[in-house]
Order: sequence, then structure tokens, then C-alpha cells
Amino acid sequence: MKAVVDVAADKNKSKTPIKQEKIVTVGGGSLNGEVAISGAKNAVLPLMAAALLTEDECIINNAPCLDDVLVMLSVFKALDGRAEFDGHQLRLNSRGVEPRAVKPEILRQIRASNLILGPLLARFKEAEIGACGGCSIGSRPMDIHFAGMEALGAKILPLAGGYFAFARQLKGTDIYLKFPSVGATENLLMAAALSEGQTRLHNAAAEPEIEDLAAFINAMGGSISGAGTADIVIDGARKLHGVEYTVMPDRIETGTFLLAGALLGGKIRLLGARAADVQVQLSVLRQMGVEYQSMAGEITVQGGPLKAVRVETAPHPGFPTDLQPILAAVLCHAEGESIICEQIFENRFGYINELKKLGAAIQIRDNCAIIKGSKQNDWHGAKLAASDLRAGAALVLAALSAEGQSEITGVHYIDRGYEDLVGKLRRLGADIKRC
Ligand code: EPZ
Repeated sequence: MKAVVDVAADKNKSKTPIKQEKIVTVGGGSLNGEVAISGAKNAVLPLMAAALLTEDECIINNAPCLDDVLVMLSVFKALDGRAEFDGHQLRLNSRGVEPRAVKPEILRQIRASNLILGPLLARFKEAEIGACGGCSIGSRPMDIHFAGMEALGAKILPLAGGYFAFARQLKGTDIYLKFPSVGATENLLMAAALSEGQTRLHNAAAEPEIEDLAAFINAMGGSISGAGTADIVIDGARKLHGVEYTVMPDRIETGTFLLAGALLGGKIRLLGARAADVQVQLSVLRQMGVEYQSMAGEITVQGGPLKAVRVETAPHPGFPTDLQPILAAVLCHAEGESIICEQIFENRFGYINELKKLGAAIQIRDNCAIIKGSKQNDWHGAKLAASDLRAGAALVLAALSAEGQSEITGVHYIDRGYEDLVGKLRRLGADIKRC
């Protein structure tokens, strides 16, 4: 598919109403077969931003076809960059890029648009970003990003509906993050990559997507060590060059299908999955009594009776917050009381009222969900509404575990983060379609 996205189309896109599509499922069947894991959404978005660090062409392979990638493409083109998306290959060239204000209606569409701050500041010594949007899972402030940029010598001025950042020169220094923010770590990696001297990030995020970004920048001629740990050292380069790079597989999609297999399997083979990125997910599956085999480049998971567990989300290598809704949906069918505590976002239980429409017995206490699970499944289909990307995936799996027909609206949220989730589930034998 050639999706050469241009700003004009995007201008119209931002005016078109959100698609009122829905997903219709008929539950009760089991899933069997193979599913190919796509490239990682939360890795490809920072890599696209990092392409702004050079005026050479950057080629990114294994890029997932997601709405968030299309929006990031329109941000890139709104900066007068050139971008093509053909199949799963992105070709980005930011030779003609100007750090002018990107239309707010584009910037607020995804949180990741705030990742242009670091590269534009590094290359042009100025950047303007909007009040970046994102899901309804929390306030999503930028204070850690800004504190780090100011430590490098930048000034950040609030504007109506956004921020303007500028610097005479960015100079490397020690930066202590008050929380291991993924986005702030990524923005600071990119800003430090072209700063003068050495920058050391302390209490940095250690997610695998950070390692992918560091490897991408190192392949551009950068000098970053320690990515994947809490202490990252960046020696600023004078210039960075173009690169061809293959983005890592999506560990959250991997976790989604592992949990789908645990709940609805049969037996599912996840092709292209990287077991090293999902060790904590696999240890939770073991505690749940789920059988799986992981070998080079694939993981096979087997459905069966599930045991209750207690999990709390945490920065990597802890249990990822993005899988919290999906795990909760699965634990509704695990025998006994499970508890999931959400430690990262302040408002990520929006989906629970929707699960209750199917028959879930869940109580919220502070930042924890107390789930009374049962392997007897007397759930019946219902009309459900997704409130964010991962909640949408949770509702799809929950609906497929309920007898009868369910309808799920908010499909546009799911399209932001999963490439063809409906098609992949249908090919595994699920009775599911988009209308
Ligand atoms: C990234 O968001 C991911 N998005 C999120 O995935 C993921 O849930 C999150 O990391 C945590 O793993 C992308 O990578 C595009 P954070 P990000 O900065 O960078 C607070 C999905 O479903 N914080 O690590 O925005 C913040 O409020 C999405 O794929 C500050 O207080 O997450 C939150 O409570 C959802 N000040 C916590 O830190 C700041 O300056 C974690 O946020 C920045 C963040």
C-alpha cells in the first residue's frame, strides 16, 4: 500500500468526523494458528522524530501501518520534510525542514508529536510544539521533558495552546529525571545527540524502545551508551548522517496476543516476537498457569484454565502499563481474586465499567482493580465503547470470551496502535468483523 501522506489531505483529515465504525464479535470460539507481530508503534514514532536530526534520507523498515504513524508523517510533512510510506517502509528526508509551527490540530492528535521537540531544538536551536494530545489515561504533563531541555541550555516559553523552545547552544550536562519518563528520555537522547560535549541521563527510562532509538542514532553516527539501563551517556556529535534501520517488533502487541492465546486459545504461534522484551509478561503467564514455548523469533502460547495473580504496573522491566487493561480482561476468567495496581497513569481504569456490561465482577480501590475471576463463563455479549487504545483491545478480547454478539465502538482508538487487529484475530478463527 502506498500511503504518500500529504498535508493537504491531512488538513481535510483533521476536519473529517472520527470514523463511526464498530467491531462486531460473536464469542465462544477458540483461537488457533499463526500471527505475525508488526513493528513497534512506540519505537517507530521516536525513530521518525530522530530522522529530523539529519538532512540525509532515513529509511525505516518493518514500520507498522497505524494511524499514529500516518499522523506522525503529517507532522513531518507539515515541517516541510519529505515522507513516503510504502508497504512497511518509511522513507523520510528532512533536508527542507523548517521548525515552523505545525498546525495544532495535527499536533494534538497524538502524544508522540511532542517528540519533535528534542530533534528540532538540537538541529535548529528552536522548536514549537502544541499542547500534545494523547489518550484519556492521564494528564500527560511535559515538565520532565522541559526540565531536561533547560538543563541543556534551552528556554521554554508557553504559548497559546503550546510551547516555544529555543537555545543559543545546547551543552551536555548531567540530567536527573524525577521519573523515568519514556518520552522525556527519548526527547533528551535526541537533543543531546547534537549537543556540545557529554550528557549523562540519570533515572532514565529503560524500555526496549529506548534501546531501539539509541541504536538508530548510533547508526546515524551518534555515540550513545547505556540505553536500556537507568544511566545513559551521550557524546554529542557535530553532524549525523542518514541511515536504513529495521524497527523492533511490538512488545505490547506481543503481550496482547499472548494474553489472547491464554484466554481464547487453542494454540497460537506469534511469529517475529522477541521474547527478551516480554520476560515479565511471560513470568505473569507462568504464574497464571499458562503454557508457552519461546524460541528464536517466535513464541507459542496454549489456552487453558487460568489462576488468579497479583500484578502492579511499573517502568520497564516491570509489567507494562499498556497491557494492564488487557490483563484485567483476561483475569476476569481466572479462578479466584486477582489484583492489578496501576502505578504509571492516574486514569487508566476507564474500561472497567464496559467489562461489567459483559458480566465482570471488578472493584476499584485507590489505584488497584480487585477482580473476582471465575472459570465458569456466563458472560453474554453487550454494546461496548472503547475509551483508549489499549482499553479497546481489552474489550475486543473480553467480547470474544462472551457468548453471543457484542459491538465495540471507538475503533479509531484501536487503529492508532494495532495493525489490522480484526484481520489478525479473524485469521486465528475469531468470529469478528468491522462494520
Ligand atoms: C509512552 O508514553 C508510550 N507512548 C505509552 O504508550 C506508554 O504507556 C508510556 O510511555 C509508559 O510506558 C509512546 O511511546 C508513544 P511517560 P509517554 O512519559 O512517553 C508522567 C500506548 O498505549 N510524566 O513515560 O507519554 C506521565 O504523566 C501508549 O501505546 C510527567 O509527570 O509516557 C505518566 O504518569 C499509552 N512529566 C508517567 O510519567 C513528564 O514530563 C509516564 O509517562 C512526562 C511524563
